[in-house]
Amino acid sequence: MLQPEQQPHSDGPVPSIAGLLLAWYDRHARELPWRVSPEKRAAGISPEPYRVWLSEIMLQQTTVAAVTSYFARFVNRWPTIEDLAAAPETDVLGEWAGLGYYARARNLHACAKTVTEAFAGGFPSSAAELKTLPGIGDYTSAAIAAIAFDEPAAVVDGNVERVVTRLFAIEAPLPGARKTIRRHVAELTPDRRPGDFAQAMMDLGATVCTPTGPACILCPLRVHCRAAAEGRAEQFPIKKPKAATPERKGAAFVAVRPADGAVWLRRRARSGMLGGMSEPPTTNWNARADGATGAEAAPFAAKWEFQGTIAHAFTHFRLELEVYRAELTQDPPIAGWWSNEAAQGSEALPTLMRKVLVRALSDVTAPKPSRKRTG
Ligand code: ADE
Ligand code: SF4
Repeated sequence: MLQPEQQPHSDGPVPSIAGLLLAWYDRHARELPWRVSPEKRAAGISPEPYRVWLSEIMLQQTTVAAVTSYFARFVNRWPTIEDLAAAPETDVLGEWAGLGYYARARNLHACAKTVTEAFAGGFPSSAAELKTLPGIGDYTSAAIAAIAFDEPAAVVDGNVERVVTRLFAIEAPLPGARKTIRRHVAELTPDRRPGDFAQAMMDLGATVCTPTGPACILCPLRVHCRAAAEGRAEQFPIKKPKAATPERKGAAFVAVRPADGAVWLRRRARSGMLGGMSEPPTTNWNARADGATGAEAAPFAAKWEFQGTIAHAFTHFRLELEVYRAELTQDPPIAGWWSNEAAQGSEALPTLMRKVLVRALSDVTAPKPSRKRTG
């Protein structure tokens, strides 16, 4: 039963959540480079599975604003999945540099190869089959199946979790509430226009049902929303208190060739954190125990000078790296290559390593490290 304050003012049955949301989407859908607008969709135009897949992989843990330019560069350089599959992995990692979560880029490339080789370039169309591909999990398989292939799959991302926990005032905390949320989404998802429905939920979460200060007054679902009726929208989703983020430490060593300012880079191991990406040599900061710090931890002897510390937040830990610089006139005795400023734009340098280089190459003299060194 609806509460009295949820009753619409007009007579007649209350339109369904899906109906209201799709009508809102028809007027307010965001224009996104990988999206086919609801008008075109209604005219029978479907989005290319390649573009849907690529955008959904990029959008995991990243905002639309951050993804847009990367998406454009990828489809410009590799217009089809066959082109992407044929590219060297380092080129793919290079174009991905800055987006973070680099395992996604390696899986992206592996998936392109699998689809090209095992599926003759055509993505399988069901969520169940899509989920067997590298890098495609519950969310992405459902999103591609719904958006590209009209399967009424339950698409649940962070935006959808927020909208649904508010609609139904779900008091159980995340992540435990995920099953309940999925059940609600499966029930709400219509057989007609499931892809538009999924994207409408995401757009609503991104533009109206925002984490703070949701615009309930403008929301098409307000007549159905328990949290809004109770004046508690911002309280949802309820989250289980998190354990404190662990801190890790390490050091990075930037060798500079004075003749042209080039720096010595090497490639990280393919497996593990930032796998396959480029870096100036660092200590083993991704180990569970703190990595070694201090100039004595350098991979080869040189006149290492401390340049300051940079911090970087990964999902499961926060990292502090001491940055050292030394001038070097010959090649160091470890594997790698010299990379000058012009080359650095095309290196597969993750954001963390860009920070290291900026710190090492800025000429501000840093204070000596004051805290006690470990390792
Ligand atoms: N976030 C992730 N995928 C999206 C999509 N297809 N539309 C809007 N926001 C999204
Ligand atoms: Fe979110 Fe408010 Fe809409 Fe409820 S009424 S779904 S809380 S924006």
